[in-house]
Parts: sequence; C-alpha cells; structure tokens
Amino acid sequence: DFHNRLFSGVQPTGDLHLGNYLGAIRRFAPMQDQFDCIFCVVDMHAITVWQDPKALRQKTREVAAAYIATGVDPKRSIIFNQSQVMQHAELAWVFNCVARIGWMNRMTQFKDKAGKNRENASLGLYAYPSLMAADILLYRGTHVPVGDDQKQHLELTRDIAGKFNNDFKNEIIEEGFEDGDFFPITEPLISGPAMRIMSLRDGSKKMSKSDPSEMSCIALMDDADKIAQKFRKAKTDPEPLPSELEGLEGRPEARNLVEIYAALSNQSSEDVLKEFGGQGFGAFKPALADLAVAHLSPISSEISRMLADPDEIDSILRDGAERAGEIAEETMKHVRQIVGF
Ligand code: ADP
Ligand code: NA
Repeated sequence: DFHNRLFSGVQPTGDLHLGNYLGAIRRFAPMQDQFDCIFCVVDMHAITVWQDPKALRQKTREVAAAYIATGVDPKRSIIFNQSQVMQHAELAWVFNCVARIGWMNRMTQFKDKAGKNRENASLGLYAYPSLMAADILLYRGTHVPVGDDQKQHLELTRDIAGKFNNDFKNEIIEEGFEDGDFFPITEPLISGPAMRIMSLRDGSKKMSKSDPSEMSCIALMDDADKIAQKFRKAKTDPEPLPSELEGLEGRPEARNLVEIYAALSNQSSEDVLKEFGGQGFGAFKPALADLAVAHLSPISSEISRMLADPDEIDSILRDGAERAGEIAEETMKHVRQIVGF
C-alpha cells in the first residue's frame, strides 16, 4: 500500500503564463487537503535548453513565490528546487538504464522542442522524461496534477515504474516489499477545464514559455494594460460567438478564449456561451481581460512582494530541500540495495 503523496513541478524558464496557472499551479493549493504534497521547481529540467544562469536563479524564486502566492503553505507542503536534492540525478541515471530508447523516441515533446535540428538538441532534452519519472518516484508519488501536455510523460513514468518493479522483483521482495512493488504506478490528475490553453496567436499551438512570441502568452506578471492589449490582439475570426458549444467547432482560437473565460470564472463553456452568444469579440475580449486582471493582479502583487525579499523565499527553499532530501534518501537506500550498488 502506498501513502497518498502528490508531486508536481514547474520549470523556472521564461515567464509563468496563464496555461501554467490554469493547468497546474492554481490546482496545487486545494490538493493540500487531500494529499501530502511536494511542489518542486524543476531547475534541472530547465537547463535541458540553454538558460542564462542569473535569470535561472531568479526564475526559480519566482516559481516558488507563485506557489505560495496561490495558497501553497510551505509548512504543510514541501516546496524546493530539484537541483538541491542530488538524489534526483542519481535515480534518473538508474531510470536511464531501465527506460528503452524506443520509448523516448515516441515522446512528442522532444520532437516539438528539438525542432528540425534534432541532432543538435541536448542529450538532457532527450532524457527529460526519465528525470521526470525520477522526480515523482523518488517520493513514491501516487498522484500528479499536470496539464494535458504532460500526459505522455506520465505514461512513461508508469512504464518505468512497472519495468523496474518487474526487472527487480526478487530483490524488491528481499528488501522487504512483500508484494514486489517498490514504485507505485502513478495516477495523473488531468481532468478539469482548461487543461490545454492554446497560444493567443495560433490556436493550434499550446501556450508555452518557450514560445518566442511575447504576444502569444498572458504572463502571470503582466500588468492590466498588457493583459488587455494581448487579448485585444489575440487572433480570432470575424464571426460572433455562438450560443451553443457545437458552434465552436473548427474555431480553435474562439474556443480557447471561451475556455479561458470559463476556467477563470469557474463556469462551464456552455454557461459562458449562454451569456455571450451572439456578441462579437469586440465585446467579449474586454470582458475576458477584466476577468483575467481581477484574477491575476492579487497573485502578481503577492509574487512581487515576495521577490523583493528573496531571503524569505531562499529560506523556504532550503527548508523544503532538507525535508525532501530525507524522503529521497530513504527511497535511494532501498534502490541502491535493489539494483546491487
Ligand atoms: P512550459 O511548457 O510552458 O514550459 P512547464 O513544462 O514548466 O511549462 O509546465 C508546467 C506545468 O504547466 C505542467 O503541469 C504543464 O502541464 C502545465 N502547462 C504548461 N503549458 C500549459 C498549457 N498551455 N495549458 C495547460 N497547462 C499547461
Ligand atoms: Na511543458
């Protein structure tokens, strides 16, 4: 039987955006009532593509501040950055030797991020899902809240856990785990609205920190004018909004804006269309911008307040790394025995 433990992480790269917020971060605080939670700032994942070192350190603090500003309690939950618990790298290596090259070759995120020049991508970018499996399984995490884009990586985490349990069955039993399962088969928590927020410039691409076009993302730290401007310039079509869901078919940009509105106002897309059906984007976009500003501005002020005093965040991260490190070392003691180190 596995202890109910939830793990999630966000990369300290680029600016946190509405997709990170709706698909991941805002779901963290409520999880604290149901699970023991570990929220990680995954700086080792970040360097799979080039990061400016000073910016990386600052972004690490910003992501930690975002967790706290949205209600994660650093006393109840563990907040830390990945690089400070060296067991992540150690378990990732073991998993590099469990996972198969063929499994990695199927990962669509690698294909997207490496682009055309795949030969020139870092080896770390290729092995990213193996490190992600280590992040979760180091804490024997049973649940992971993520956006839809991480579904495939979660499946790989499950495959790695299953293969490890199977490859080392006897050793796991000898180590005292009678049913022979050392790692849990982690459940992704993906359900809910807005699990895939799309770019404001192209309804076929997800909103992402790695998108070079600034206008494609609503950043968590954008001020009211910027948010209004980005929604005003968001790509749409000339039709008014439909009053039923079917009317959004073949209109990915319109659908995306409706879904954002629904997620921010805790309603269904149907309800949003009941209210705005028949109206044009000239009316809908300002309403959406007002809603987003009302929602995000208290969060971004709290993040700014915390960033002004980095000592507080740094001490939270140090304390978190210590607590995470204890659990991680407990797991690794078993893993080292199991694999024969
Ligand atoms: P990014 O892809 O922007 O670099 P991360 O890889 O750091 O973001 O992902 C952090 C979390 O945010 C993950 O749980 C991921 O599923 C979620 N997420 C990222 N982009 C989106 C999006 N466009 N819509 C919904 N959730 C997203
Ligand atoms: Na991602």
